[in-house]
Amino acid sequence: MCRPVFCFLLWVLAFPIGAAPRLSAEDELASQADSRLFSRGEYLARAADCAACHTASPNAPFAGGVGLATPLGAVYSTNITPDPKTGIGNYSFEDFDRAVRQGIAKGGRRLYPAMPYPSYAKLSEDDVRALYTYFLQGGVDAIARESRESDIPWPLDMRWPLAVWNGLFLDEKRFEPRADKSERWNRGAYLVQALAHCGTCHTPRGIAFQEIALDERQEGFLAGGSLGGWDAYNITSHPKAGIGGWSDEELLRYLRTGSTPGKAQAAGPMGEAVQHSFRYLKDEDLQAIVDYLRSVPPVDDGRPKARYEYGAPANDVVKLRGTPVRQPGQAGPDPQHEGARLFLGNCASCHHWSGEGAADGFYPALMGNTVLGAQSPTNLLQVILNGVSRGDEASPDAAFMPAFHDSLDDAQIASLANYLFERFGNPQVKVNAEDVARLRPR
Ligand code: HEC
Ligand code: HEC
Ligand code: HEC
Repeated sequence: MCRPVFCFLLWVLAFPIGAAPRLSAEDELASQADSRLFSRGEYLARAADCAACHTASPNAPFAGGVGLATPLGAVYSTNITPDPKTGIGNYSFEDFDRAVRQGIAKGGRRLYPAMPYPSYAKLSEDDVRALYTYFLQGGVDAIARESRESDIPWPLDMRWPLAVWNGLFLDEKRFEPRADKSERWNRGAYLVQALAHCGTCHTPRGIAFQEIALDERQEGFLAGGSLGGWDAYNITSHPKAGIGGWSDEELLRYLRTGSTPGKAQAAGPMGEAVQHSFRYLKDEDLQAIVDYLRSVPPVDDGRPKARYEYGAPANDVVKLRGTPVRQPGQAGPDPQHEGARLFLGNCASCHHWSGEGAADGFYPALMGNTVLGAQSPTNLLQVILNGVSRGDEASPDAAFMPAFHDSLDDAQIASLANYLFERFGNPQVKVNAEDVARLRPR
């Protein structure tokens, strides 16, 4: 790993540390056990993606303040660093377990289920202990930062009804492995249902914001939900409505890198989950997830083809040659060609004028892309408005697409999207300017 001279220097520098008073054999064993627990806690915090909601800025990990939209108004995540005043420094293990698994903060304050405790309720005691060690015994720096009140107006912000909610919808039982299934399947089930809480986004919600199913035995599990202005598609085993038509390798690649050519790329909240959580999972854990997904009962939505089966390469650049360009100030959009022109002017430089993308998939093809084969325009509009930003520069799988919310207005994005759906996607989807306005970042 290191050059000889440099290694030598490192060794000299490290020597005084290595020569510190020796620990007794028991201490050493105990500290080894601690550090194992500790790194397991770190891994689990990644798998559970606590940072997705508790880290608003990378300079203040876990200090809270992330706004999460609920039907009643935004709820803000709290500070879960070990700061005793503003964070959870005073939490005992029991306090921590109650907050994470039952949604009750120290002192009895009920948490909104925007904190996914209905999924974390299934966590094993060992795993909660490892998380506790990581968060409170040295893995996370204390940061003093007051938590912010929710935007939910009085009297809806009263928290006692949440006790009733828990009574109706919270299942406090920890995960119980199914004896009729393999160890790997059970590991996958645990990851999907509890730690990685895929259902938080992918399971439809009922009238009280509850997930309608919490495991594969209940109807509707992972049948598609919407969260934070994005659609999290049906990922049941159904070959058309879900991911039944994806190969194991395609699913693994999607979870590990966020991009599977010919199928989908992960943007928005899924891009973040890949970036901060799934790409750190061990291969055997990702494989267990895929194994389990295969067994989630199919939920059909009646669609005729899978989301990735739409579209053909375009040749509009040829057709448009020699047609008159709309002059500035000329009334109304040119309904025939405005979308094609916007595509050629704004998107084709990366996605190619035929829409086939780059040969290596770095710029993905637009046909055979689930965002364009979906039944709702939501994710395509989000991608055009906000672009794609996944991974940091150091990561080999980083992907970046610019946002167009400043350069294109609502009507332009609507004509562009209509063109894209017609050419490369599901031609039944129609978009108007109001659909765009609703999603435009404010
Ligand atoms: C999907 C978003 C989300 C994820 C993921 C998430 N949290 Fe939370 N968490 C929240 C929100 C929102 C609150 C505040 C809820 C409220 O104020 O009612 C919260 C509150 C808490 C609290 C209560 C602290 C206090 O005293 O106010 C603890 C402890 C906590 N989370 C720990 C965790 C841990 C540990 C993880 C990872 C295993 C995690 N959270 C993952 C959204 C999330
Ligand atoms: C924070 C919300 C969130 C969580 C948690 C989440 N997803 Fe997603 N997922 C999404 C969104 C949103 C999309 C659509 C992304 C896009 O269109 O770019 C998506 C897309 C996908 C797709 C692609 C489906 C398609 O047809 O394009 C797969 C597969 C997937 N998720 C699997 C999972 C699995 C497995 C987990 C848990 C290990 C998970 N997701 C957790 C929000 C989430
Ligand atoms: C500078 C290059 C660039 C430009 C310009 C560009 N894109 Fe992209 N686009 C990308 C990259 C990179 C990705 C993400 C690839 C990945 O996730 O691996 C992407 C992804 C996408 C996706 C898939 C997103 C998903 O969630 O599945 C769609 C759809 C898309 N672009 C449409 C467009 C449209 C429409 C335009 C023009 C308004 C456009 N792109 C302009 C580079 C670009």
